[in-house]
Amino acid sequence: MQPLSIRTATAILVASCLSLTWTGTPVQAADKKEEKTIYKDARATIDSRVEDLLSRMTLEEKILQLSQYVLGNNDNINNIGETVKKFTGEEGSLIFVGTDPRLRNAMQKEAIENTRLGIPILFGFDVIHGFKTVFPIPLGQAASWNPDLVAQACRVAAREAEATGIDWTFSPMVDIARDGRWGRIAEGFGEDPYLCSVMSATSVKAYQGDDLSAEGSIAACLKHYVGYGASEAGRDYVPTEISRQTLWDTYLPSFEAGVKAGAATLMSSFNTISGTPASANHYTMTEVLKEKWGHTGFVVGDWNAVDQLITQGMAPDRKTATLYAFNAGLDMDMVDNCYRENLADLVSEGLVAQERLDDAVRRILRLKFMLGLFENPYTAETEAKERFLLPEYLETAEQLAQESMVLLKNDKNLLPLKKSSKIALIGPIVKNRFDMLGSWEGRGSEDDVISIYDGILASKEGEFEVNYAKGCDFDGEDTSGFPEAMAAASKSDVIVLCLGEKRAWSGENASRSTIALPEIQEQLLVELKKSGKPIAVLISSGRPVDLSRIAPMADAMLEIWQPGVMAGPATAGILSGKYNPSGKLAVTFPYSTGQIPIYYNHRNSGRTGAQGEYQDIQSTPMFEFGYGLSYTDFHYGPLTATLPGGRTASGTEDDAIEISSGQKFTAQITVTNTGDKDGKETVQWYICDPYCTITRPVKELKHFEKQMIKAGESRTFTFEIEPLRDLGFVNEDGERFLEKGDYYIMVQNQRIKIRII
Ligand code: BGC
Repeated sequence: MQPLSIRTATAILVASCLSLTWTGTPVQAADKKEEKTIYKDARATIDSRVEDLLSRMTLEEKILQLSQYVLGNNDNINNIGETVKKFTGEEGSLIFVGTDPRLRNAMQKEAIENTRLGIPILFGFDVIHGFKTVFPIPLGQAASWNPDLVAQACRVAAREAEATGIDWTFSPMVDIARDGRWGRIAEGFGEDPYLCSVMSATSVKAYQGDDLSAEGSIAACLKHYVGYGASEAGRDYVPTEISRQTLWDTYLPSFEAGVKAGAATLMSSFNTISGTPASANHYTMTEVLKEKWGHTGFVVGDWNAVDQLITQGMAPDRKTATLYAFNAGLDMDMVDNCYRENLADLVSEGLVAQERLDDAVRRILRLKFMLGLFENPYTAETEAKERFLLPEYLETAEQLAQESMVLLKNDKNLLPLKKSSKIALIGPIVKNRFDMLGSWEGRGSEDDVISIYDGILASKEGEFEVNYAKGCDFDGEDTSGFPEAMAAASKSDVIVLCLGEKRAWSGENASRSTIALPEIQEQLLVELKKSGKPIAVLISSGRPVDLSRIAPMADAMLEIWQPGVMAGPATAGILSGKYNPSGKLAVTFPYSTGQIPIYYNHRNSGRTGAQGEYQDIQSTPMFEFGYGLSYTDFHYGPLTATLPGGRTASGTEDDAIEISSGQKFTAQITVTNTGDKDGKETVQWYICDPYCTITRPVKELKHFEKQMIKAGESRTFTFEIEPLRDLGFVNEDGERFLEKGDYYIMVQNQRIKIRII
């Protein structure tokens, strides 16, 4: 039996202290005769409704709006939280961890009917990569380089969640992560600020839709604000050291993009940023977010984050922690009850200003009005089968899974496998369904996962003959399965060895000291190599993996991440050639753990050549950000620029294209599919500013586009360039600037020179 997690225990305690009765009958709206007060009048503007409601609220009611607790069964074992003894119905928000809308409605009924003002509760939940239809982990989604597909997945997640009573997801996670040891690298979109910004804005728009009150829309939450991914040595919850410059050029852009896309909320992070905890950081939460970016939504603290200011060494007690967090700009307190215990005293002592209190409450009420919760507080009580895993949802899940997979190696075109091949299907993940879901699986269940084994058996394109053997477990030292694996290999034409990580090895509080797979898995490969049969290695992981010993023994390698419920069909589709792999890494795969941190957009060293390199291993990574192979070949034509007035220029090294800082222009390239298979190609546009008073990365991604190119056909890809936006940089105050001089626009191994005059 699983030990009872702290969160589960917390939730049970809270639920048992509740006096709510779950009648199982649909909830009706209150039919009391009430005068039409402004805040109840749907025709009034949201601002006037907010002000009216605010003017009626007591101090205690306001503070309750700033407080969030947990409703239902919570099975995240990572957080130790203080909890309340009972709900009043006046709490601002509850994390709803159930799947039955009747429970949620019963709680909402308390709020609407049995409280003085009838303010609806905002129900939040971690819908990270799907709710019931689980999609690939976000690190995999980013590798699809297909924002439209990611948006479709977010829409599905929003529909399933909203139909269950979730108003608000704690997603997207847009932390830049460059350390594969950090388990939470799985939850984000990788190492690059631009790719992460695109996915951030895409997810926000998709979750929220055009109208937050519309069916299928939920509020988004950008997290973890900010710099959490810079965790020292890849450990979780630890301090980070981030200069203002790095904050602005690396960690803030994905949040800024999400805020510009309309993100309703943000979640403050657990880390200390160069001495000041992110959850008590006036600069990031107030000066940047609310003042500079003009964000009108609210900031929720991460789980227990206010109380954690004590363990972080900033506040000596919960009252001081409340003071620091609240005055810094953290509006809603997640589960630790600090605000509820201390804010009233702090207001009466004059340490917290009434204006600050009203501002925080206003932000939360505004979202409740925008979500339409005052008009429609209840969720339709439908059956699970009406809400979940609909055929079109599974179609999106399969597409996103297959587009996220990255072909890392394919010697002698081993993949796709020949039709009717005899395959030795070996490894700990072949029949595994549980670990295919990845961390933060929402309400996903392993019962809904199609395993790799079942996917391959069902492959119509492949019609493979399968000889299965597990070979070994994920870890441990038991080699007793090796002979069976060898026997399967000897009966087969080709070995498909499926290795990888358990899902609990990544996600929150899941740091690892090495990003290599456990030795037993590498030993199995060594053993199978003796068979002389060609080997395709599949890797399922929640992080970049050290493949330095695996790569030389593998003829082909495919990174499948944790692909979600459609793991089997997506993987089988790639192996059989139904799908042509189009994923490209969103994170650099180091050669070994010792290279970390290693990322493509580093700055230049002071010395070139062999100086400063490692003495014992290569200094270059195994696979760089943006890398990924296809079953077809793409030929890139010449890279050109079109200047204002329509003149086309080549921008050779001696003949830079001169342009003034205000002039927009375009660059374009034509790509031809010269192979015999249709395929999708992502053109990645990078820029380089070789000399700048604030030194810049050697390469910076600024634009990308993925298009299907049929065999033999060509497609033109265009990058519309606004010099300040695309060539400029940001300083430590967050101001964009563009220096005069030379820049490069780069695609693959071509570049053109631009001179800003
Ligand atoms: C995590 C957040 C999550 C929150 C609520 C925290 O432990 O850091 O990412 O949204 O719990 O479950």
